[in-house]
Amino acid sequence: MATHKLLLLPGDGIGPEVMAEVKKLIAFLNARRLGSFEIEEGLVGGCCYDAHKVAITDATMAKAHAADAVIFGAVGGPQWDRVPYEVRPEAGLLRLRKELGLFANIRPAICYPALVESSSLKREVVDGLDIIILRELTGGVYFGEPKTITDLGNGQKRAIDTQVYDTYEIERIARVAFDLARRRRNKLTSMEKRNVMKSGVLWNEVVTQVHAREYKDVQLEHQLADSGGMNLVKWPKQFDVIVTDNLFGDMLSDIAAMLTGSLGMLPSASLGAEDDQTGKRKALYEPVHGSAPDIAGKGLANPIAMIGSLAMCLRYSFGLGEAADALEKAVANVLASGLRTKDIAAPGTNAIGTAGMGDAVVSELRRALK
Ligand code: IPM
Ligand code: MG
Repeated sequence: MATHKLLLLPGDGIGPEVMAEVKKLIAFLNARRLGSFEIEEGLVGGCCYDAHKVAITDATMAKAHAADAVIFGAVGGPQWDRVPYEVRPEAGLLRLRKELGLFANIRPAICYPALVESSSLKREVVDGLDIIILRELTGGVYFGEPKTITDLGNGQKRAIDTQVYDTYEIERIARVAFDLARRRRNKLTSMEKRNVMKSGVLWNEVVTQVHAREYKDVQLEHQLADSGGMNLVKWPKQFDVIVTDNLFGDMLSDIAAMLTGSLGMLPSASLGAEDDQTGKRKALYEPVHGSAPDIAGKGLANPIAMIGSLAMCLRYSFGLGEAADALEKAVANVLASGLRTKDIAAPGTNAIGTAGMGDAVVSELRRALK
């Protein structure tokens, strides 16, 4: 059996707590020979700043390059609000995304039947929901230059962020999107703001061309990102795969997360281009939720998004589809049995903690695999 090298970067806030549950699962997978994983750990975010005055060190970056996959927790917290912008906790994550070339961020939003009641939307709107937001992750306004704040000297300052996309960046994310749609319900919705942004005009044009050239069999529609956001809460089941840029994808995926009941439920995969020689992709897996400083250290966080990210890693990086299915099924069964962390528990009902949820998933997996 091939041994896969995983780099675990728990980060800040609830990151280490939810990562602890992933470690339990990796130990279980190794013990049951469902896979063979070697793990290394590193610092990223505020904890790395405290230790090394940077958000991620070159040594950890080298480990990330060498790993078969990176599993990432969360970064940030109020104690680092005043650190210099270049070394703020989020800079560690952005450096990983950029230097590993992780341009395709897959964020599935699946509403587990057991959680229909946790969503703030009506049952019929979210019941059975299964959509994917595909977010472009290495371009656009998060990385574009110039990115500055200039003192104008008259008591005013000017802030500039640059939204920039080249044809190749739109083409490659569009291809990932069409390929995903083909394996699902064959429908792709592209979202931009072509009515006000040049980058939206080009985005629309390039996605349309890739469709006409290579993916005529897939149903393609375009929506403006603002009304797309509205449609996402109005009737999300009209979508299958949504492809959009870095900024809109950041926002729309948080909205999609809430459709599923809690931000604590959404995993994600960030993938790079296929290597010409090995056919492998660089990859990082992370929950969509952040570091949740308000509940950090209390053992309350929901580890399901983090566990789901491990399932995506098994599927997308290692072709271990059966193990991934088993893990996702175990999560669904645990939820169906009524166990809930606080974020998804009905008011007034008893909730279990982070470790309780992780243990329940391991036990369920053990039971199912007997
Ligand atoms: C996300 C987060 C990050 C982003 C932050 C932590 C930099 O919000 O992954 O959605 O903005 O991309
Ligand atoms: Mg976000």
